[in-house]
Amino acid sequence: MSKRIIDSVGKRQSSVTQLKLAVLISGGGTNLQALIDACAGTDFPAGISLVISNQENAGGLMRADKAEIPTRVIRHLDFTDRDAFDDALTAALEAANVELICLAGFMRILGRAFIEHWQDRLINIHPALLPAFKGLHTHRHALEAGVRIAGCTVHYVRAEVDVGPIIAQAAVAVLPGDTEESLGQRVLKQEHRLYPLAVELIARGHVRIEGGNAKLESDWAGEDVTLINPLPAPEK
Ligand code: GAR
Repeated sequence: MSKRIIDSVGKRQSSVTQLKLAVLISGGGTNLQALIDACAGTDFPAGISLVISNQENAGGLMRADKAEIPTRVIRHLDFTDRDAFDDALTAALEAANVELICLAGFMRILGRAFIEHWQDRLINIHPALLPAFKGLHTHRHALEAGVRIAGCTVHYVRAEVDVGPIIAQAAVAVLPGDTEESLGQRVLKQEHRLYPLAVELIARGHVRIEGGNAKLESDWAGEDVTLINPLPAPEK
């Protein structure tokens, strides 16, 4: 499992057990960047061993290059069927001894065999408060539904799309006049906080799966985290 590594930056030394991550992307990779930045922190208990994109022009590949993280482009178009593509992903992930796969804007549906092979070692970030608004265009659907609170979810991946034990969620208020873009930006900002937090919880062994749900074994969970929208009028 995790390898004990000694990280040495100048005179500063830290010794942390680092979980080996792979991040799978298809686009700009701002969530990848959030994970890169988190992993650069002293004592963060995970490091990125590999970034895989199914799109050769994904902006996230440049972010990985800049951080000197190995990248692979595995184009789904180069494979005759989904299983062959998934097998190529698994081969690359196993060659890099990856322990946890983070889907970060990876816009290909993975097959059941792949998901079962990586069961409980495969997580995803979704731009909605699951189980609401699965699929695409989540912010448009949230606005159409008139919800007052939107957000994002990090969850373990299961064969059904956007289903699986929920590790962490972040909520934001929907504001009057919000557009898909403005709401999307506000949620994305929280995604960048949430994904590293979820990875850290897993890497520190604070998450276990029980009865189909993820249970947290940590005292980080706030007892009194409340978001009310609209805010009640201030007391006079
Ligand atoms: C993020 O908002 C992520 O939640 C979403 O794609 C965006 C990727 O942005 N993922 C999905 O919709 C998966 N169904 P990024 O490339 O800047 O991280």
